[in-house]
Amino acid sequence: MTASLFTPYKLNDTLTLANKILMAPLTRCMADDDLVPTQKMVDYYARRAAAGLIISEATIIRPDAQGYPNTPGLFTPAQIDGWRKVTDAVHKSDGKIFSQLWHTGRVAHPHFFDGDYVLSSSAQAVEGTVPRMRELVYQTPKAATLDDIKQLVVDYAQAAANAIDAGFDGVEIHAANGYLIDQFLHHDNNRREDEYGQTPENMSRFALDVVDAVVARIGADRTAIRVSPGAYFNMAADPRDRAVFDYLLPELAKRNLAFLHGGIFDDSMQFDYLGGNISTYLRSVYTGTLVGVGSYTAETGSAAIADNKFDLLAIGRPFIANPDYVAKVRQGEAVVEYNDAMLAELI
Ligand code: FNR
Repeated sequence: MTASLFTPYKLNDTLTLANKILMAPLTRCMADDDLVPTQKMVDYYARRAAAGLIISEATIIRPDAQGYPNTPGLFTPAQIDGWRKVTDAVHKSDGKIFSQLWHTGRVAHPHFFDGDYVLSSSAQAVEGTVPRMRELVYQTPKAATLDDIKQLVVDYAQAAANAIDAGFDGVEIHAANGYLIDQFLHHDNNRREDEYGQTPENMSRFALDVVDAVVARIGADRTAIRVSPGAYFNMAADPRDRAVFDYLLPELAKRNLAFLHGGIFDDSMQFDYLGGNISTYLRSVYTGTLVGVGSYTAETGSAAIADNKFDLLAIGRPFIANPDYVAKVRQGEAVVEYNDAMLAELI
Protein backbone atom coordinates (compact mmCIF):
# COMPACT_ATOMS: atom_id res chain seq x y z
CA MET A 1 0.00 0.00 0.00
CA THR A 2 2.92 2.33 0.57
CA ALA A 3 5.11 1.16 -2.31
CA SER A 4 4.60 4.42 -4.23
CA LEU A 5 6.50 6.24 -1.46
CA PHE A 6 9.62 4.29 -2.34
CA THR A 7 10.22 5.48 -5.87
CA PRO A 8 12.81 8.23 -6.37
CA TYR A 9 11.59 11.75 -7.03
CA LYS A 10 13.46 14.24 -9.18
CA LEU A 11 13.04 17.73 -7.71
CA ASN A 12 15.09 19.34 -10.48
CA ASP A 13 18.37 18.89 -12.37
CA THR A 14 20.36 19.34 -9.15
CA LEU A 15 18.46 17.16 -6.67
CA THR A 16 16.82 13.73 -6.83
CA LEU A 17 15.35 12.25 -3.66
CA ALA A 18 15.72 8.52 -3.00
CA ASN A 19 12.10 8.28 -1.79
CA LYS A 20 9.06 10.50 -1.23
CA ILE A 21 9.12 10.60 2.58
CA LEU A 22 10.41 13.88 4.01
CA MET A 23 11.18 14.42 7.65
CA ALA A 24 9.22 17.57 8.60
CA PRO A 25 11.05 20.35 10.47
CA LEU A 26 10.79 19.70 14.22
CA THR A 27 12.04 22.17 16.81
CA ARG A 28 13.67 20.32 19.70
CA CYS A 29 15.34 23.15 21.69
CA MET A 30 18.52 21.17 22.29
CA ALA A 31 21.30 23.29 20.80
CA ASP A 32 23.94 24.41 23.29
CA ASP A 33 23.86 27.84 24.91
CA ASP A 34 25.68 29.39 21.94
CA LEU A 35 22.95 27.89 19.73
CA VAL A 36 25.46 25.44 18.24
CA PRO A 37 24.23 21.93 17.24
CA THR A 38 25.48 19.24 19.62
CA GLN A 39 26.78 15.71 19.06
CA LYS A 40 23.37 14.39 20.18
CA MET A 41 21.81 16.35 17.34
CA VAL A 42 24.36 14.91 14.90
CA ASP A 43 23.35 11.40 15.96
CA TYR A 44 19.62 12.22 15.93
CA TYR A 45 19.69 13.45 12.33
CA ALA A 46 22.05 10.69 11.13
CA ARG A 47 19.63 8.06 12.46
CA ARG A 48 16.92 9.52 10.19
CA ALA A 49 19.02 9.77 7.01
CA ALA A 50 16.88 7.18 5.20
CA ALA A 51 14.26 9.90 4.64
CA GLY A 52 14.21 11.12 1.04
CA LEU A 53 14.95 14.53 2.52
CA ILE A 54 15.35 15.77 6.09
CA ILE A 55 14.23 19.33 6.73
CA SER A 56 16.11 20.54 9.80
CA GLU A 57 14.43 22.01 12.83
CA ALA A 58 13.80 25.74 12.35
CA THR A 59 17.13 27.55 12.61
CA ILE A 60 17.41 31.23 13.42
CA ILE A 61 19.06 33.57 10.93
CA ARG A 62 20.23 36.13 13.51
CA PRO A 63 19.98 36.78 17.25
CA ASP A 64 16.70 38.72 17.31
CA ALA A 65 14.99 35.85 15.48
CA GLN A 66 14.90 33.75 18.65
CA GLY A 67 11.63 32.95 20.40
CA TYR A 68 12.37 29.67 22.16
CA PRO A 69 15.27 28.44 24.32
CA ASN A 70 18.22 26.64 22.72
CA THR A 71 17.01 26.77 19.12
CA PRO A 72 20.03 26.46 16.81
CA GLY A 73 21.41 29.35 14.75
CA LEU A 74 23.21 29.70 11.45
CA PHE A 75 24.99 33.02 11.84
CA THR A 76 28.24 32.34 13.74
CA PRO A 77 31.26 30.31 12.56
CA ALA A 78 30.76 27.86 15.47
CA GLN A 79 27.12 27.30 14.46
CA ILE A 80 28.14 26.69 10.83
CA ASP A 81 30.81 24.22 11.96
CA GLY A 82 28.30 22.48 14.23
CA TRP A 83 25.83 22.06 11.38
CA ARG A 84 28.61 20.77 9.11
CA LYS A 85 28.97 17.79 11.49
CA VAL A 86 25.24 17.13 11.08
CA THR A 87 25.26 17.37 7.27
CA ASP A 88 28.42 15.22 7.01
CA ALA A 89 26.81 12.50 9.10
CA VAL A 90 23.59 12.58 7.05
CA HIS A 91 25.53 12.50 3.76
CA LYS A 92 27.67 9.63 4.99
CA SER A 93 24.46 7.63 5.32
CA ASP A 94 23.40 8.69 1.80
CA GLY A 95 20.77 11.12 3.06
CA LYS A 96 19.91 14.67 2.07
CA ILE A 97 19.15 17.59 4.37
CA PHE A 98 17.78 21.14 3.96
CA SER A 99 18.04 23.84 6.62
CA GLN A 100 14.84 25.58 7.65
CA LEU A 101 15.57 29.33 7.89
CA TRP A 102 13.64 31.06 10.65
CA HIS A 103 12.87 34.43 12.15
CA THR A 104 10.07 34.38 14.70
CA GLY A 105 9.24 38.12 14.40
CA ARG A 106 6.71 39.12 17.08
CA VAL A 107 6.96 35.67 18.66
CA ALA A 108 10.61 36.42 19.52
CA HIS A 109 11.56 37.64 22.99
CA PRO A 110 14.32 40.12 23.96
CA HIS A 111 15.16 37.80 26.87
CA PHE A 112 16.99 35.56 24.41
CA PHE A 113 19.16 38.16 22.72
CA ASP A 114 19.46 40.88 25.31
CA GLY A 115 17.64 43.37 23.10
CA ASP A 116 15.12 46.16 23.58
CA TYR A 117 12.39 45.14 21.17
CA VAL A 118 11.18 42.55 18.68
CA LEU A 119 10.39 43.24 15.02
CA SER A 120 7.30 42.48 12.98
CA SER A 121 5.35 43.81 10.01
CA SER A 122 3.26 46.00 12.34
CA ALA A 123 3.01 46.90 16.01
CA GLN A 124 0.43 44.18 16.70
CA ALA A 125 1.16 41.96 19.67
CA VAL A 126 0.26 38.30 19.80
CA GLU A 127 -1.26 37.29 23.14
CA GLY A 128 0.51 34.77 25.30
CA THR A 129 3.85 33.75 26.76
CA VAL A 130 6.89 31.88 25.52
CA PRO A 131 6.11 28.14 25.84
CA ARG A 132 7.51 26.66 29.05
CA MET A 133 8.72 30.15 30.11
CA ARG A 134 5.52 31.73 31.38
CA GLU A 135 7.29 34.74 32.83
CA LEU A 136 8.17 35.86 29.29
CA VAL A 137 5.08 37.66 27.99
CA TYR A 138 5.01 38.44 24.26
CA GLN A 139 5.68 42.09 23.58
CA THR A 140 4.15 44.62 21.24
CA PRO A 141 6.65 44.52 18.38
CA LYS A 142 8.26 47.43 16.59
CA ALA A 143 6.97 47.75 13.02
CA ALA A 144 9.98 47.12 10.77
CA THR A 145 11.19 50.22 8.93
CA LEU A 146 12.11 49.97 5.26
CA ASP A 147 15.76 49.83 6.35
CA ASP A 148 14.94 47.03 8.83
CA ILE A 149 13.28 45.11 5.99
CA LYS A 150 16.29 45.54 3.71
CA GLN A 151 18.59 44.25 6.42
CA LEU A 152 16.34 41.26 7.13
CA VAL A 153 16.41 40.29 3.46
CA VAL A 154 20.22 40.51 3.45
CA ASP A 155 20.33 38.38 6.61
CA TYR A 156 18.08 35.66 5.16
CA ALA A 157 20.32 35.49 2.08
CA GLN A 158 23.45 35.33 4.24
CA ALA A 159 21.95 32.54 6.34
CA ALA A 160 21.18 30.63 3.11
CA ALA A 161 24.80 31.05 2.00
CA ASN A 162 25.90 29.88 5.47
CA ALA A 163 23.67 26.82 5.09
CA ILE A 164 25.41 25.86 1.86
CA ASP A 165 28.75 26.52 3.54
CA ALA A 166 27.66 24.14 6.32
CA GLY A 167 26.97 21.42 3.74
CA PHE A 168 23.18 21.57 3.51
CA ASP A 169 21.67 20.48 0.19
CA GLY A 170 19.38 23.49 0.26
CA VAL A 171 17.11 25.60 2.44
CA GLU A 172 13.43 25.79 3.25
CA ILE A 173 12.41 29.38 3.95
CA HIS A 174 10.06 29.26 6.94
CA ALA A 175 7.20 31.52 5.87
CA ALA A 176 4.57 29.54 7.82
CA ASN A 177 3.06 29.13 11.28
CA GLY A 178 2.68 32.79 12.23
CA TYR A 179 6.39 33.68 12.24
CA LEU A 180 8.00 36.77 10.69
CA ILE A 181 7.35 36.24 6.97
CA ASP A 182 3.84 34.96 7.70
CA GLN A 183 3.30 38.14 9.77
CA PHE A 184 3.39 40.07 6.48
CA LEU A 185 0.99 37.66 4.75
CA HIS A 186 -2.03 37.92 7.07
CA HIS A 187 -4.26 40.92 7.74
CA ASP A 188 -4.43 40.06 11.46
CA ASN A 189 -0.83 41.18 11.80
CA ASN A 190 -0.02 43.29 8.73
CA ARG A 191 -1.53 46.78 9.11
CA ARG A 192 1.15 48.57 7.09
CA GLU A 193 0.25 51.43 4.80
CA ASP A 194 3.41 51.41 2.69
CA GLU A 195 4.50 49.14 -0.17
CA TYR A 196 4.56 46.15 2.22
CA GLY A 197 0.89 46.38 3.27
CA GLN A 198 -2.79 46.54 2.33
CA THR A 199 -2.83 44.87 -1.11
CA PRO A 200 -2.03 41.23 -1.95
CA GLU A 201 0.93 42.37 -4.01
CA ASN A 202 2.30 44.54 -1.23
CA MET A 203 1.69 41.98 1.52
CA SER A 204 3.54 39.36 -0.57
CA ARG A 205 6.49 41.65 -1.23
CA PHE A 206 8.58 40.74 1.82
CA ALA A 207 8.20 36.99 1.18
CA LEU A 208 9.17 37.44 -2.46
CA ASP A 209 12.07 39.78 -1.58
CA VAL A 210 13.44 37.06 0.71
CA VAL A 211 12.89 34.31 -1.87
CA ASP A 212 14.56 36.33 -4.62
CA ALA A 213 17.55 37.21 -2.44
CA VAL A 214 18.01 33.59 -1.36
CA VAL A 215 17.65 32.31 -4.94
CA ALA A 216 20.20 34.88 -6.13
CA ARG A 217 22.61 33.56 -3.51
CA ILE A 218 22.18 29.76 -3.68
CA GLY A 219 19.97 29.06 -6.74
CA ALA A 220 16.29 28.14 -7.15
CA ASP A 221 17.09 24.39 -7.27
CA ARG A 222 18.22 24.56 -3.65
CA THR A 223 15.48 26.88 -2.38
CA ALA A 224 12.10 25.77 -1.00
CA ILE A 225 9.44 27.53 1.04
CA ARG A 226 6.83 26.63 3.65
CA VAL A 227 3.58 28.65 3.90
CA SER A 228 0.40 28.65 6.01
CA PRO A 229 -2.43 30.19 3.96
CA GLY A 230 -4.81 29.07 6.69
CA ALA A 231 -3.97 30.92 9.90
CA TYR A 232 -3.97 28.44 12.76
CA PHE A 233 -1.03 29.25 15.03
CA ASN A 234 0.08 32.61 16.48
CA MET A 235 -2.31 34.29 14.02
CA ALA A 236 -6.03 34.97 13.60
CA ALA A 237 -7.74 34.09 10.32
CA ASP A 238 -9.14 36.78 8.03
CA PRO A 239 -11.04 35.92 4.83
CA ARG A 240 -9.10 38.64 2.99
CA ASP A 241 -5.91 36.56 3.39
CA ARG A 242 -7.09 34.32 0.53
CA ALA A 243 -6.38 37.04 -2.04
CA VAL A 244 -2.84 37.42 -0.67
CA PHE A 245 -2.05 33.74 -1.23
CA ASP A 246 -3.89 33.71 -4.58
CA TYR A 247 -1.32 36.31 -5.64
CA LEU A 248 1.73 34.92 -3.82
CA LEU A 249 1.54 31.27 -4.89
CA PRO A 250 1.60 31.78 -8.70
CA GLU A 251 4.45 34.25 -8.13
CA LEU A 252 6.33 31.54 -6.22
CA ALA A 253 5.59 29.03 -8.99
CA LYS A 254 7.29 31.35 -11.50
CA ARG A 255 10.49 31.07 -9.45
CA ASN A 256 10.88 27.29 -10.08
CA LEU A 257 11.69 26.52 -6.47
CA ALA A 258 12.62 23.01 -5.32
CA PHE A 259 9.21 22.59 -3.62
CA LEU A 260 6.36 24.23 -1.74
CA HIS A 261 5.46 22.83 1.69
CA GLY A 262 2.20 23.46 3.57
CA GLY A 263 2.51 24.50 7.21
CA ILE A 264 -0.25 22.75 9.22
CA PHE A 265 -0.62 20.18 12.01
CA ASP A 266 -3.71 18.46 10.63
CA ASP A 267 -4.42 18.58 6.91
CA SER A 268 -8.03 17.55 7.44
CA MET A 269 -8.66 21.00 9.00
CA GLN A 270 -11.04 22.99 6.79
CA PHE A 271 -10.69 26.70 6.06
CA ASP A 272 -13.90 28.27 4.71
CA TYR A 273 -12.11 31.07 2.95
CA LEU A 274 -9.73 28.66 1.21
CA GLY A 275 -12.58 26.40 0.09
CA GLY A 276 -11.24 23.35 1.94
CA ASN A 277 -8.03 22.03 3.46
CA ILE A 278 -4.52 23.36 2.98
CA SER A 279 -3.10 20.87 0.49
CA THR A 280 -6.21 21.06 -1.75
CA TYR A 281 -6.02 24.85 -1.79
CA LEU A 282 -2.26 24.86 -2.47
CA ARG A 283 -2.68 22.31 -5.29
CA SER A 284 -5.36 24.50 -6.91
CA VAL A 285 -3.16 27.59 -7.18
CA TYR A 286 0.43 26.29 -7.26
CA THR A 287 1.83 24.30 -10.17
CA GLY A 288 5.21 23.06 -8.86
CA THR A 289 6.16 20.20 -6.54
CA LEU A 290 3.91 20.21 -3.47
CA VAL A 291 4.71 18.61 -0.10
CA GLY A 292 1.68 17.49 1.92
CA VAL A 293 1.86 17.30 5.72
CA GLY A 294 -0.28 17.19 8.82
CA SER A 295 -1.40 14.06 10.71
CA TYR A 296 -0.80 11.69 7.81
CA THR A 297 0.31 8.09 8.15
CA ALA A 298 2.41 6.40 5.49
CA GLU A 299 -0.81 4.75 4.27
CA THR A 300 -3.01 7.87 4.12
CA GLY A 301 -0.15 9.95 2.71
CA SER A 302 0.61 7.36 0.05
CA ALA A 303 -3.07 7.28 -0.94
CA ALA A 304 -3.11 11.09 -1.18
CA ILE A 305 -0.07 10.99 -3.49
CA ALA A 306 -1.78 8.31 -5.59
CA ASP A 307 -4.82 10.64 -5.83
CA ASN A 308 -2.50 13.42 -7.01
CA LYS A 309 -3.32 15.59 -3.99
CA PHE A 310 0.39 16.31 -3.54
CA ASP A 311 3.75 14.92 -4.69
CA LEU A 312 5.79 14.28 -1.53
CA LEU A 313 4.80 13.45 2.05
CA ALA A 314 6.32 15.13 5.11
CA ILE A 315 6.14 13.23 8.38
CA GLY A 316 6.70 14.99 11.71
CA ARG A 317 5.75 13.46 15.06
CA PRO A 318 6.05 9.81 13.93
CA PHE A 319 9.70 10.59 13.07
CA ILE A 320 10.25 11.74 16.67
CA ALA A 321 8.90 8.43 17.93
CA ASN A 322 10.58 6.27 15.28
CA PRO A 323 14.16 7.09 14.22
CA ASP A 324 13.82 4.13 11.82
CA TYR A 325 10.45 5.29 10.49
CA VAL A 326 11.37 4.74 6.83
CA ALA A 327 12.65 1.18 7.38
CA LYS A 328 9.55 0.28 9.41
CA VAL A 329 7.21 1.55 6.70
CA ARG A 330 9.18 -0.20 3.99
CA GLN A 331 9.01 -3.48 5.88
CA GLY A 332 5.36 -3.05 6.86
CA GLU A 333 6.20 -3.00 10.57
CA ALA A 334 4.05 -1.18 13.13
CA VAL A 335 5.34 2.26 14.16
CA VAL A 336 5.58 3.45 17.77
CA GLU A 337 2.94 6.07 18.57
CA TYR A 338 4.19 9.57 19.36
CA ASN A 339 3.49 11.26 22.67
CA ASP A 340 4.66 14.65 24.01
CA ALA A 341 6.80 13.05 26.72
CA MET A 342 9.17 12.01 23.92
CA LEU A 343 10.17 15.65 23.47
CA ALA A 344 12.29 15.47 26.63
CA GLU A 345 15.03 13.46 24.91
CA LEU A 346 16.69 13.15 21.53
CA ILE A 347 16.64 9.52 20.45
C1 FNR B 1 6.71 21.13 14.78
N1 FNR B 1 6.47 21.74 13.55
C2 FNR B 1 7.38 22.64 13.04
N2 FNR B 1 7.15 23.26 11.83
C3 FNR B 1 8.09 24.05 11.27
O1 FNR B 1 7.86 24.56 10.17
N3 FNR B 1 9.27 24.28 11.91
C4 FNR B 1 9.56 23.75 13.13
O2 FNR B 1 10.66 23.96 13.65
C5 FNR B 1 8.58 22.94 13.73
N4 FNR B 1 8.77 22.40 14.98
C6 FNR B 1 7.89 21.48 15.50
C7 FNR B 1 8.17 20.85 16.71
C8 FNR B 1 7.32 19.89 17.21
C9 FNR B 1 7.65 19.22 18.50
C10 FNR B 1 6.14 19.53 16.49
C11 FNR B 1 5.22 18.45 16.98
C12 FNR B 1 5.86 20.16 15.29
C13 FNR B 1 5.34 21.28 12.70
C14 FNR B 1 5.73 20.03 11.93
O3 FNR B 1 6.70 20.34 10.94
C15 FNR B 1 4.51 19.38 11.21
O4 FNR B 1 3.91 20.32 10.34
C16 FNR B 1 3.47 18.89 12.19
O5 FNR B 1 4.05 18.16 13.25
C17 FNR B 1 2.41 18.03 11.50
O6 FNR B 1 2.96 16.86 10.95
P1 FNR B 1 2.79 15.42 11.72
O7 FNR B 1 3.53 15.53 13.00
O8 FNR B 1 1.31 15.25 11.95
O9 FNR B 1 3.35 14.41 10.77
